[in-house]
Amino acid sequence: MNESQATQIVILGGSGDLAKRKLIPALLDLYVHRKLPDVFSVIGLARTPRSDEEYRQFVNDSLTAHEHGHSQEDISAFCSRVSYISGSFDDPQSYQTLKTSLDSFSDSQNVCTNRLFYLAVPPQYYETIFEYIHQTGLAENCSDGEGWARILVEKPFGHDLETAQKLDQKLSSLFTEDQIFRIDHYLAKEAVQNILSFRFANTLLRSPWNKEHVKEVRITMHEDIDVQDRGNFYDGIGALRDVGQNHLLQLLALITMDEPQEFTAKNIRKNRAEILSALIPFTDQTIQTQLQRAQYEGYTNTTGVDENSTTETFFALTAYLDTETWQGVPFHIEAGKGMAEKKVSIEIVFNDVASGLFETDSCHTIQNKVVLQISPEQSMHITLNAKMPGTGYQMESRTLSFDCDKSTLEISAYEKVLLDCISGDQTLFTQTEEVLASWKFITSILERWGDQELHIYPKGSKTPVQ
Ligand code: BG6
Repeated sequence: MNESQATQIVILGGSGDLAKRKLIPALLDLYVHRKLPDVFSVIGLARTPRSDEEYRQFVNDSLTAHEHGHSQEDISAFCSRVSYISGSFDDPQSYQTLKTSLDSFSDSQNVCTNRLFYLAVPPQYYETIFEYIHQTGLAENCSDGEGWARILVEKPFGHDLETAQKLDQKLSSLFTEDQIFRIDHYLAKEAVQNILSFRFANTLLRSPWNKEHVKEVRITMHEDIDVQDRGNFYDGIGALRDVGQNHLLQLLALITMDEPQEFTAKNIRKNRAEILSALIPFTDQTIQTQLQRAQYEGYTNTTGVDENSTTETFFALTAYLDTETWQGVPFHIEAGKGMAEKKVSIEIVFNDVASGLFETDSCHTIQNKVVLQISPEQSMHITLNAKMPGTGYQMESRTLSFDCDKSTLEISAYEKVLLDCISGDQTLFTQTEEVLASWKFITSILERWGDQELHIYPKGSKTPVQ
């Protein structure tokens, strides 16, 4: 990569699930493909007492369990860049030890290194960690202007509007906005990044992309897995906060935002924030008709879940936008775990051809549909109408499809997140206005849905609520 300056990557929560399943494999891929700076090191910080050697073994084992196609030689070379600090997130001494380690690496390289802090920890530690990173001076830029310090933070960023605002104030009092990288890994998916090119680089799609032509939009995230061993985390959060407030509203933003003046992080993030601010909050009336919540059977037997839990593992809502372009178009957003299949997609359904040559009063609809599929395959499909072969003039639907990820250039969402943070590109990270606008909308639901019926669905359902 161009960025050749020495970089130290600190994973706070270095032996957690996220580090093990996503970050360490992503770092190995980047290392093997020579996308990391020439001089780099990785420090894992976690509570479990371990020596450097034991942590390297942990990293090695995590990588061996992961399918990546790299050789043991590459893994060993990567592991030699890794070290470990055993410490507690609320113990100031841990940060001092971290500082000593970071400084001694800088000294050994004779440069002021870049420092990337990845918070792979439960959200309750965020404030404490921000505070200590600041107090210990870990995120201060070098006096000669060389060397940056950046903080990567996973969602959920807050629990509702009030806590998100509080967290945001804390962050902005300690660091500058260009140091903060709020991750929404959906934004880093190839098919999701493609949404803007698809919308704005195709004349065919630009003109009908509005309320005059779009009948409805469906944003769906079905997962066939259940909450697995994440009961402890999930039970205090539920589906709406886990994926609705972030991933799905970001998809909505990309589908509906205005064309940015320039393709820059500043313009794109501003337009995403503007459209999210136009979401019409729920009222006591709309909550009755535009929202459903459900829980899969057996959820309350999960380890870490309260036996009387009413946390939703599925929600379906209809949102509207208060803008000239999208007024009155329903956006059906739903997400659930324990569903029949894994499928994440966005369907844009255009109006039926209601007049002219092919006007029909039969049950066959004459409409177009654009489907952007994000999982399991990243692909796009456009359904058009054509004449059915043979005699007569019957219509039939035909679908044009293409895959977005059949390229050797493809990199995983976590690799992208790490690379963009290292190169300082914030396009795929959410900025404070976006986060607060989404929380404002989601909080209007959270404040009202206490009395909503919680449907129970069997695992493997296609539609948990009729
Ligand atoms: C995470 C949620 O943000 O996204 C998980 O916390 C969810 O509950 C996951 O399973 C889904 O991500 P992906 O990339 O597998 O679709």
